[in-house]
Formats: sequence, structure tokens, C-alpha cells
Amino acid sequence: MRGIVLAGGNGTRLLPLTLVGSKHLAPVYDKPMVYYPLSVLMLAGINEVLIITRPAEIGLFRRLFGSGSRLGMRIDYAAQEEPRGIADAFRVGADHIRGEDCALVLGDNLFHGAELPAVLRRTTQGLRGCVLFGQQVADPQRFGVAEVDARGGLLSVEEKPEHPRSSLAIPGLYFFDGAVTDIAQGLRPSARGELEITDVLRAYLTEGRADLVRLGSDVTWLDAGTHESLLDAGLFVRDVQRHQGTRLGCVEEVALHMGFISADVCYELGAAMGDSSYGRYVMASARAYLQSRAPATFPEE
Ligand code: DAU
Repeated sequence: MRGIVLAGGNGTRLLPLTLVGSKHLAPVYDKPMVYYPLSVLMLAGINEVLIITRPAEIGLFRRLFGSGSRLGMRIDYAAQEEPRGIADAFRVGADHIRGEDCALVLGDNLFHGAELPAVLRRTTQGLRGCVLFGQQVADPQRFGVAEVDARGGLLSVEEKPEHPRSSLAIPGLYFFDGAVTDIAQGLRPSARGELEITDVLRAYLTEGRADLVRLGSDVTWLDAGTHESLLDAGLFVRDVQRHQGTRLGCVEEVALHMGFISADVCYELGAAMGDSSYGRYVMASARAYLQSRAPATFPEE
């Protein structure tokens, strides 16, 4: 399965933060925002990822991740010349997807929760058509909204409806089979001039090939696209990390646990940032991983 991180757009809601840079490189507490969505794709077992950005910022993302090889991945980059809409990712990324199953994650979305790896594993294993997620929110008008029947079957999807039919928002993480590139090719811009992700989802729904997976309260989903939500996301990350002693969106640690890199490589990556608490955490993760795998030793009789 292939992955796409969509990290373009003009970030107008975050001006002036985004006047000369991408919001996806802005700090969410202790790391660049893009680490969080990238780590979600990695948790789904995806090690071939395309990052789509504004043309001017490709170089910065490349400096951050390079070819991806140090994380045991392949990371490619593509430019979206204009913010033509989320579904444009499947046009820009058509050569990357090459008819395979793929996952798209929006570059300003964060997910966290002990259940998340299992949810992702189940989704990638049983993919048929497309899978979108749904989470109860207080302000559904801000999001794509899904309507489901009593048994959880998907009935409709709408983009930022004025009068939402439910309070089930659709987070920015989607899984599709290889048909998605053809569907995206056939899309027309919406009234607001964008190629809408909800139109892609609706195409699958019409064919009876769209499943909605509800994210329960054990998975936290945050969208960091406004000043308020960016700060909220940073505080959330700080609080969870402080209380649990773990790091969210730590791509080196995820690469280790997903088997993309060895503990030695992980340790080296941490050591290269050893002056920071982040670097020391990465080194400690590598050590803990090695210890957890070490054969049990018994005292001499
Ligand atoms: O956060 C989830 C929501 O994200 C979904 O519920 C909505 O259905 C979906 O449309 C989207 O709504 P937003 O209003 O949050 O979309 P936004 O324009 O902020 O873009 C989301 C991310 O995608 C952001 O990181 C920028 C990137 N993007 C967006 C567009 C339109 C691009 O890279 N290129 C684009 O053309």
C-alpha cells in the first residue's frame, strides 16, 4: 500500500504564520506538524510515501526527510501548483499510486490512541473500495460530515454542511483501492472551486464500496489548521507526553517498531540529535526495544 501526505495549500487561516512557510513545518510542541500525519501512515505499515507540498517548499521537506532511507522508507515529493482541492492529491500523486491501494492523510491532522495501530491494521487488511472514519464532534459544520444508519452503514457524506445531518465528522485520513485515481480524474470542481474529497467518497458510496469506521473516544483526532487548534494540538501533545512519558509522532520510534529500521540505526538517529530531549528519547527507545527483545537470562544454578 502507498501513502500520501497532503501538505500543500495556502494556510490562509494561519496567516501571518504561513506568509513565508508551510504550516506543516510549524512546531506542534516539540516537532514539525508533518511528523504526526507521517507517523500515522507508518503505523499503518506504509513505507512508500509521497509528500505533496507547495512548489516553493519541496526543498524544505526534502531537507527534513531526504529520500526517507534513514527511516527505512522511500519518501518522494511532488508539487501542487495551486490548492485545487484535497482530491487533487490523486491527480498529482497518480504516478506514485500506480493503481495500488493507497492511504491519504491530511498534513494538519493528528491522531493518537492506544487503539490506533489495531484500527489501522484492520483497515489495511480488509480494504474493499474505500474506508473513511467518523468521529463525534461538537462543531460538525467545520468538517466533512457522514450520516450513518442504525447499523453504522454509510448513508451520505457532505462537505461542511450548513445544516449537518449528524455530528459525525470525517477526519483527514482515508484508505482507497486503486480505482481512486480514475475517480479523481473524472471529478469537477465544486461550487467553491475545489476538487472535493467528499465527492470521491460519494463516488465509492454510490457503488456501495464505502465503509465508515467510527473512531471511539480512545482515539483522539485533532485538526491543527487554525491558530486556536494549533495551540490546542501543541498542548495536547505536551500533556500526553508529560503524563505518559512517551512521544507522539516520533517517526524514528515508529520506524523501529514497524520493523523499517534496526535498533542500532534508531539509536544513531537519536544520537545525532542527542543534545535535545527528543534525541535522548529516541536513543532510550532503541535501548528499551533491544532489552525487550533480549533473550531472558537466568541466574546460574
Ligand atoms: O480535517 C478534516 C477535514 O479536512 C475534513 O473533514 C474535510 O472533509 C476536508 O475537506 C478538510 O477540511 P479543511 O477545511 O480542514 O481542509 P483544508 O483546506 O484546511 O486542507 C486540509 C489540509 O490539506 C491542509 O493540511 C492543507 C492541505 N491541502 C488542502 C487543499 C484544499 C492541500 O495540500 N492542497 C489543497 O488543495
